[in-house]
Amino acid sequence: MDRRDAKSAYLDIVRVCSYSYPLMNDTKKRLITSALPYVNNIPHLGNLIQVLSADVFARYCRLQGYETLYVCGTDEYGTATETRALEEGITPKELCDRYHKMHTDIYRWFNISFDKFGRTSTPEHTQITQGIFLDLYNNGFINERTIQQLYSEKSKMFLADRYVRGTCPNCGYVDARGDQCENCGKLLDPSELIDPRSIIDDSRPVMRETSHLYIDLPAVLPKLQQWMQEASVRGNWARNAVQMTQAWIRDGLKERSITRDLKWGIPVPLEQYHDKVFYVWFDAPIGYISITASLTSEWERWWKNPEEVSLFQFLGKDNIPFHTVVFPCSLLGSGRNWTMLHHMSSTEYLNYESGKFSKSKGVGVFGNDVMDTGIPADVWRFYVYYNRPETSDTVFTWSDFQEKTNGELIGNLSNLVNRTLTFVSRYYNGEVPEAPTDEARQSEIYPGSGSFWQDVRDAEKEITDLLEWAGLRDAFRKIFFLSSYGNRIFQAAEPWKMRTERPESAGAVLHDLVYLVRDLAILIAPYIPETSARIARFLGDTPIGWNLLGNDNPKIGRIAAPEILFRLLENDEIERLRTRFSGTQAERRDAAAKLESTPAPAVEVISETELPARFAAQVELRVARITSIERHPKADKLYIESIDLGSEQRTIVSGLVPHYSEEELLGHNIIVVANLKPAKLRGVESQGMLLAASDSTAVDVIFADFAEPGTRITVQGNETGIADSLPEIDIDTFFSLPIRAEGGRVAVAKAELQAAGTTLTTRRVADGKVG
Ligand code: 2FM
Ligand code: ZN
Repeated sequence: MDRRDAKSAYLDIVRVCSYSYPLMNDTKKRLITSALPYVNNIPHLGNLIQVLSADVFARYCRLQGYETLYVCGTDEYGTATETRALEEGITPKELCDRYHKMHTDIYRWFNISFDKFGRTSTPEHTQITQGIFLDLYNNGFINERTIQQLYSEKSKMFLADRYVRGTCPNCGYVDARGDQCENCGKLLDPSELIDPRSIIDDSRPVMRETSHLYIDLPAVLPKLQQWMQEASVRGNWARNAVQMTQAWIRDGLKERSITRDLKWGIPVPLEQYHDKVFYVWFDAPIGYISITASLTSEWERWWKNPEEVSLFQFLGKDNIPFHTVVFPCSLLGSGRNWTMLHHMSSTEYLNYESGKFSKSKGVGVFGNDVMDTGIPADVWRFYVYYNRPETSDTVFTWSDFQEKTNGELIGNLSNLVNRTLTFVSRYYNGEVPEAPTDEARQSEIYPGSGSFWQDVRDAEKEITDLLEWAGLRDAFRKIFFLSSYGNRIFQAAEPWKMRTERPESAGAVLHDLVYLVRDLAILIAPYIPETSARIARFLGDTPIGWNLLGNDNPKIGRIAAPEILFRLLENDEIERLRTRFSGTQAERRDAAAKLESTPAPAVEVISETELPARFAAQVELRVARITSIERHPKADKLYIESIDLGSEQRTIVSGLVPHYSEEELLGHNIIVVANLKPAKLRGVESQGMLLAASDSTAVDVIFADFAEPGTRITVQGNETGIADSLPEIDIDTFFSLPIRAEGGRVAVAKAELQAAGTTLTTRRVADGKVG
């Protein structure tokens, strides 16, 4: 779509809704980068946040109609690559090829919508890096210094920064790396280390003389300060970014060496430096430019066009000074009209269970692990964004992953989509009911109808304003808030009752909810694009674009019966994953090797079509009448009920006090799992369990007043050949069978449950689990 059309359509909506439009910062082209990942490792979930974040922003910008370019690629040069290749007995190029492919596969699996995922070992990169260097050199911003450098006599080589460790002169940490102290974060020159040692051969290095080139940051400082003063305000930089940058400047910018004694890097284009290469942090950020150049010969339209382009950069907090000081100084010092950083979105750390993700130690969940879990990419994307470490560090825990996925993604969003579309497809033959008239809407044709669209548009405006500045997590959470608003409207309107009592009200609420589902499909499109596309398909292939938000145009055609969007993450699956990904990668490899030598236990796989039969053969459900009911003396939430099962009387205990009064239950017929192993609940034995449906908002007992106590519940298609009484089962077996309410009907994998030929239905919860 043309950017202007999209923008003016959006502005129309803004006017119609009398929005002010203060935060939409500009209408320029959007150039988006995420920090170039080092090539010599597989990224873990903590690293993946950068590419995933920039992906949401890029997708949002495209949907908003901005001309957008998202580039990233592997950061390939440097000591780490060279040594790793040495260890593996291959050339650095071969190592980079291997890992570049792995990165590409992982990002493809995660659906990252790069316009180009390139690499830094290209001719374009060499040419542009050498060009920027020569500009700096010719402008007098490069100094030459003869220095004493640490040299290993044992290995006959100058030692790159990272291969020297020693005591940090700033904080006294004894194992500081030569380029940066991991304890206090200070950037170091290896010669500053106290008691240095070579980590390659453990020798004590000696000083030798050699020449190096330095970028004269102090000389570029006035330009930097002038630029930064304006850019940080216009680009709405986060406070921590401004503070960190100012601290760098305040502590005194020093010249920084930009050459290294390595083979694997960009040659320095000066005769007397032919055996040296550029330091990887000098060339890496230039990779953003050269990767664009390897995509298009018109790369200068993006990178030498500050009047028309806004540059948004996504990175981790440890990379901030390189993007606010070092790289900008290279660009400013070159004297060319470069597109410079506009807005930076920096994230804090994502930690893992009780510790830190670590590439070197192999702790955490890595990109390739994620691909093998059998959990779809959108579920991972959902959790990463929901838990994005935006303003403080966050923690990935398996239990939180399960809870947020089941509660929000499934219990909230998927539930609204499913219950709304199932209802329209089942009771309106897939045709979206007409919109209510304004008059009807104002007279509350359903509870909340008067303010429905205003509420939705207000939320959408907030979400849009947040996204404009890459407030990805807050915007995402507001989308889920909007979805739960939809669920509340559904719940309050009770369309399953209204449908017969007040059909025009039921039609009105379903109309509005269908268009809210459409809006949600648009809002989630940057975050979980496959899910958005699936919902759009259910809605008759409705188009997705930001300019469509907030009204019921274009009309939605016929709705298809929706499929279930996601399956619940079950306890045993999460437990398996937690165990599988505990310890380090090396420990996991050992464990896997041991397993290979032990025969695998037979794993029973039950297909969808077998489930109803399996359920009928294992679970004995019967109608029972509640003949007396009292509060449990030792538990606030529990009732003790006597029940009549036709041929026998039993006692059961159920946690219904917050949901039902005694009168609502006494004398009614309910459904009981009659062959459940008895269990004591706060000292009282429960001889069975009554069935209730639940979602994130309500609990709904399944009543069967139409059938006699003792009536056996049957599973559609499996009515015959089932023994009259079945052996006992435990609660875990019961919960492993997927009994659910779908569109108000109780079913196991689509086969409905019936008592005396009548399908069991719910009243309060149209879609939810039953147990
Ligand atoms: O920290 C890292 O993974 C670096 N490879 C990031 C480089 S960002 C940019 F400058 F290329
Ligand atoms: Zn330190």
